[in-house]
Amino acid sequence: MFYPVILAGGSGERFWPLSRQHKPKQFLVLEPTGRSLLQATADRLNQTSGEPDRLMVVTAHSHRSQVLEHLPDLPMENLLVEPVPRDTAAAILYAALTIARDDPDAIMGVFPADHLIQDQVAFARILAQAVTIAAASDALVTLGIAPDYPSTGYGYIEQGKRLAGLPVGEAYEVKRFTEKPDAQTAAHFLSTGRFLWNSGMFVWRVQAILQAFKEHAPELYGPMSEAAQLRGGLRQLYPSLPKISVDYAVMERATNVVVIPASFGWDDLGDWNALERLLKGEGANVVVGRHVSLDTGGAILYTTNGDDLIATIGLEDVVVVRAGDVTLVVRKDRTQDIKQVVQQLKRTP
Ligand code: GDD
Ligand code: MG
Repeated sequence: MFYPVILAGGSGERFWPLSRQHKPKQFLVLEPTGRSLLQATADRLNQTSGEPDRLMVVTAHSHRSQVLEHLPDLPMENLLVEPVPRDTAAAILYAALTIARDDPDAIMGVFPADHLIQDQVAFARILAQAVTIAAASDALVTLGIAPDYPSTGYGYIEQGKRLAGLPVGEAYEVKRFTEKPDAQTAAHFLSTGRFLWNSGMFVWRVQAILQAFKEHAPELYGPMSEAAQLRGGLRQLYPSLPKISVDYAVMERATNVVVIPASFGWDDLGDWNALERLLKGEGANVVVGRHVSLDTGGAILYTTNGDDLIATIGLEDVVVVRAGDVTLVVRKDRTQDIKQVVQQLKRTP
């Protein structure tokens, strides 16, 4: 049986000041549907796999109540709560150990909680294909996206030979998986035309990923598989676990990775500029909330509070966000640096 697992424990800083430590990207409503990214992810998986009672969510203790608010129909036992976040490797292993206990033959899918997917039909088709391939092998299946610029924020997958004799669609061996390369390496990867971005979505037999953790990340597998035998054992162990993502811990090291090239209008919504792609307004500016603007072009103006107003005069290519007691004004080409402001604020008491 197929178990979709949503990872919803990230802290997300690039949509600051809208996202804060207590309200990261997965809880933001960025789509015109009025659903948060987490809700949209759950809707999509429930519609595709058709088994809402097998949908699982892994999140940090600090986000627990928000997840329940956003997903009131999620069965309580399907919410795995991490006492403290330890990045995606631990979160995925936690889910794999839990699923394997009840259903050792299970197939598991991993889905980030904070992405946009525009073509639901194509997504359903590719997911079904991934499940079929994973079920028939020990492969760690990833969904790969054709890259369009040399991003340093993604994992890169070098496509190898096309797999022969598949029951459905096309899939490729993975020659190499490189997480978040530097700018020069990313540019080189792009120029070869052989690389895809890792979408962060994975499908595998639960036994295949457990084996991969055992081989490539014994520092997690050893203590976690032991602690999982004891009631409350994992909760106690969690704070002592290493903080590492699944991409570094497993995907870069494994040799049984397979990629399905996927095209379903994927967007990682990496920063404020993503709003432009999302809301594609006809006018010169992308606006959410009340505003008055004079001679302003290419701006993203965002306010959440109905009473607040943004007024701009003579500005080009800026982002202005008013959220709570914070106002952000940033040039569109500097939005990646918001993280630095957040870091600075963390240091200032
Ligand atoms: N439960 C839990 N616990 N979830 C977590 C944790 C954690 O400690 N840390 C992150 N997550 C969740 C995030 O909320 C998000 O939904 C997902 O796991 C991925 O984590 P990110 O922190 O957003 O990863 P990333 O964007 O830097 O990189 C990953 O995604 C890229 C595509 O967007 C990698 O898989 C890259 O290779 C990939 O290209
Ligand atoms: Mg991400």
